[in-house]
Amino acid sequence: MASRKKDSWGSSLGVILAVTGSAVGLGNFLRFPGLAAKYDGAAFLIPYFLALFFLGLPIAWSEWAMGRFGGQQGYNSCPGIFRSIWKNRLAPYLGVLGLIVPVVIYMYYLWIESWCLGYAWKYLTGQMNLGMDPATYTTHFTSFVGLQTDGDFLAHGFSLPVICLLACVILNFFFIYRGLSGGIEKVCLWGMPLLVICALLVLVRVLTLGTPDPTHPERNVLAGLAYMWDIRGGLPGLLHSLSNAEMWMAAAGQIFFSLSVGFGVVINYSSYLKKRDDIALGSTTAVAGNEFCEVSLGGLITIPAAFLFLGAAGTVGGTFGLGFQTLPLVFAHMPAGQLFGFLWFFLLFIAAITSSLSMLQPAIAFMEEGLDLDRRGSVSLLGFITLMGTGIVVWFTKDLAALDAMDFWVGSFCIFILATIQTFLYGWVLGVKRGREELERGALLSIPRIFDFVIRYVSPVYLLTVFVIWLHQKGAENLEAIRTQPSVRIALLFVAAVLILFLLLIARAVRVWRIREEPKS
Ligand code: ALA
Repeated sequence: MASRKKDSWGSSLGVILAVTGSAVGLGNFLRFPGLAAKYDGAAFLIPYFLALFFLGLPIAWSEWAMGRFGGQQGYNSCPGIFRSIWKNRLAPYLGVLGLIVPVVIYMYYLWIESWCLGYAWKYLTGQMNLGMDPATYTTHFTSFVGLQTDGDFLAHGFSLPVICLLACVILNFFFIYRGLSGGIEKVCLWGMPLLVICALLVLVRVLTLGTPDPTHPERNVLAGLAYMWDIRGGLPGLLHSLSNAEMWMAAAGQIFFSLSVGFGVVINYSSYLKKRDDIALGSTTAVAGNEFCEVSLGGLITIPAAFLFLGAAGTVGGTFGLGFQTLPLVFAHMPAGQLFGFLWFFLLFIAAITSSLSMLQPAIAFMEEGLDLDRRGSVSLLGFITLMGTGIVVWFTKDLAALDAMDFWVGSFCIFILATIQTFLYGWVLGVKRGREELERGALLSIPRIFDFVIRYVSPVYLLTVFVIWLHQKGAENLEAIRTQPSVRIALLFVAAVLILFLLLIARAVRVWRIREEPKS
C-alpha cells in the first residue's frame, strides 16, 4: 500500500504498556470508586465482572485481532481496517466512529487532565493548605474550574488553571509528534511504573492509618475496606442492589471506558504489531494490568481513605466531587497529607496523559494514511480541531454542560454503537475462524474456545440489551438538555460538524485507496 514510512512499536513490552497506559486513566482511580460507592460496593462487582468477561475481554481480544489483521493489509486507521475486513462500501464510513470517539473524548478528558496537573502543582508548592472546612474545598474547585458561569474559566487570563491546560495541550502534541516508539511508547515505559509506584505509596499510607481519629473508633482501616467491599444488607440487600438496571448499565459503561474498548484506540494500536507478535498474551496482560490498577489500587484507596476521615457521608459526591473536593479534605486530615496529595494528583496526571495520547493517535493515523499528510500536517490539523473542541468545553463551564453532553453522546452512546459494530465485524464478517487464526499466530497463550460463541452471540445480545435499557432510562433527560440548553446544542453541533468533516475525509481517503489498489499497467 502506502509508500510512506510506517510507524511501529519498539518492543512487545512497549506495546503492552502503551495499551495498558491507554486503559489506566481517570476511570480507574476516580470513576470506578465513585460508581462502586454509589452502587453498594461489592454488589457492583457482580455486573462489573460479568461485563468484563462477556463484553470487555472478548471485545478487547477481537479488537487486537482485527487491528493486526488490518495492519497486515497496510491499514492503521479504523476506516481503513474496517474496509479491509468488510468489502462493503459502507464499511469505511462506519469506521468514522473509531475517529470521532477518541477525538471528542480527548477534548474534555484533556481538561480534567489539566485539573490533576494543577492540583499536583498546588500540593508541590504548598498552596493546598486550605484548612478543615469542607466548604473551602468546594469553593476552591468551583473557582478552579469556573463552574459558576460560562466563560469563568477563561476570564482571568493566564491563571494557573489556564496555564495547566495549555501545558497539557503542548505536552500531548509534543509526544504525539514524536510518533509511536519515540513518543507514546517512551511516555508509557516511564510513566506506567512511576504511576504504580506512586499509587502503591498512597495505598500503603491509607492502609497503615489505623484509627486516625480516636473520637471515632468506628472509622478504622478495616471498616473502610468493609465499607467498600462488604455486601451490605446480606443476601436480601444484594438481591435488591442487583435488581437495579441502572447499576448494570453503569458497570458495562465503566468496563468500556476503563479498558478503552469500543474507543477506536486498541484497534489502532494493535495494527502496528508484527505478523507473529503474541497478541493473545499482549491483550490479556493489558486487560489484567488495567484491572489490577482499577480494583486493587483504585478500589482500595479512594473510598476507604474518605471513609476513614469523613465516615460514610464522605464517600458520596460523584466522580469529580470525590476526586477534587473530598480527597483534598482527606489529605488535609492525613499525616504528611501534602506529600500524599501531591503523589495522588501526580499519579492521576500520568494516568490521564497516557490515556489522552492514545486518543489522538487513531486520527493521526487516519490523516496520514488516508490523506497523505505528513506528521507536521496531521498534528497541525488535529491540533486545530481539538483546540476548538476543548475551547467549547472550557467556555461552557456552567454545570459542566458541554462536557456532560459530549460524555453522554460520544463517551457512552457512540461507544456502545462502535462496540456493537465491532462484535458484528469480528464474529460475522471476519469470522471467528479467521479471527482465531490471527489471535493464535505466534501466541503462547490460548484463548478459550468459548470465546468464539461469546463474541458471536452473547456479547451482541448483552450489549444491545444494556444499550436499550440505558437509552430508555437516560435518553429522555439528555434530549431535554438539548432542547433547553443552548450550550449543549452548540457543543453537539460542533461534534456533528467534526463528524461530517471526518466523513468527507473518509470519502476522499477511499478514492485514494482505490487508486492505489488498481493494478498498475
Ligand atoms: N481508559 C481511560 C480511563 O479509564 C480512558 O480513563
